[in-house]
Amino acid sequence: MTDIKKGLAGVTVDETAVSKVNPETNSLLYRGYPVQELAATQPFEAVAYLLWNGELPNGAQLAELRQVERAHRALTDDVRAAIDLLPTSAHPMDEVRTAVSVIGARETAGISNVMDAVGTPEGNLERSVRLWAQLPAVVAYGQRRRRGDELVEPRDDLDYSANFLWMTFGEVADAVVVDAFNRSMILYAEHSFNASTFTARVIASTLSDLYSAVVGAIGALKGPLHGGANEAVLHVFTEIGSAADVGSWLDAALAEKRKIMGFGHRVYKRGDSRVPTMKAALDTLVAHYDRPDVAALYDALEAQFVERKGIYPNLDYPSGPAYDLMGFDTLTFTPLFVAARVTGWTAHVREQQASNALIRPLSAYVGPDERHVEGYVPDA
Ligand code: ACO
Repeated sequence: MTDIKKGLAGVTVDETAVSKVNPETNSLLYRGYPVQELAATQPFEAVAYLLWNGELPNGAQLAELRQVERAHRALTDDVRAAIDLLPTSAHPMDEVRTAVSVIGARETAGISNVMDAVGTPEGNLERSVRLWAQLPAVVAYGQRRRRGDELVEPRDDLDYSANFLWMTFGEVADAVVVDAFNRSMILYAEHSFNASTFTARVIASTLSDLYSAVVGAIGALKGPLHGGANEAVLHVFTEIGSAADVGSWLDAALAEKRKIMGFGHRVYKRGDSRVPTMKAALDTLVAHYDRPDVAALYDALEAQFVERKGIYPNLDYPSGPAYDLMGFDTLTFTPLFVAARVTGWTAHVREQQASNALIRPLSAYVGPDERHVEGYVPDA
């Protein structure tokens, strides 16, 4: 009898030096640093640098990264044209996936020998930075065009997070909002061999290019069992309405055996290490926007679901309402996750390339026994 590990649960498939998830101690380390320390002290740009290079940047290194990021912030004509071909009713994850395809085709144009698709370690670091720098404009433009608003050009005097909010909303956000957004980007940046990162590594393992790996990862992230859950959490909040309605809503949802989005995790069984930091950021937004009703609904659903099922919130639970308070459309939430996680994906793609083995598991066949096509005559 073949021992099948459905969903690869509990299977260790490779080593990584990018991050360490420890469900026993409820900790998450990026290159050795606890993620909550990074979120409290660093700009997202510095954490991106850390994930790619293994160390936090010094002043000159951070300045250099920021210079490259600023140089690639504006939405390019080819990407804008491709997005504009899509209906405004297209899911924004499809827009982002399309944009990465276009960027990849442009950046790898002229590479006609498939053996060269994989690129060099240095070249792929540069590709990673440029791709990361281009995604905020894609996400921001997506939300604006759905609302019928004009494109907002980037501003050179703002750092990554402040500029992201500027391009989305056309106004400079308050410092407290920029800080909460920056923290969310850091928390979403990396999480070891999750489904989308593993997808990226599978694609990289065939010696395909970095952009193809990211396009595949975006497809994996779209699903509600993974990144799509932050969008789904807001649908749940909207469905419930208010804290007073949580009990009756939960009775019905559990009777229907519904999965409650934003709760549960394959690795963490006693709570997601990232939640306390994001919940604290949500609390600052609740105070800033004076929305105690959001906190009341959040707390009531968490308390009652944990009491009944013993299943704890994951990062998508606090980030969904936080992005909603900031003014993002619900449909934009998972693309925000892409903008952050592209750092982790590309760090993993380069790690896979540096020590590659084609990822090709086995399967246990359960189809029909061997049979033959009627009339087939074997070659003599
Ligand atoms: N709501 C209700 N029941 C749940 C939930 C939930 N959110 N999560 C797990 N359970 C139950 C399952 O129904 C199952 O019960 P059973 O044994 O009676 O059938 C049991 O807990 C085990 O759940 P599985 O789905 O088998 O566990 P797995 O490790 O595969 O699931 C997952 C992890 C997919 C994240 C799951 O908890 C889930 O679907 N959560 C909702 C989606 C979500 O929030 N995803 C975000 C993940 S984190 C991220 O991407 C940042």
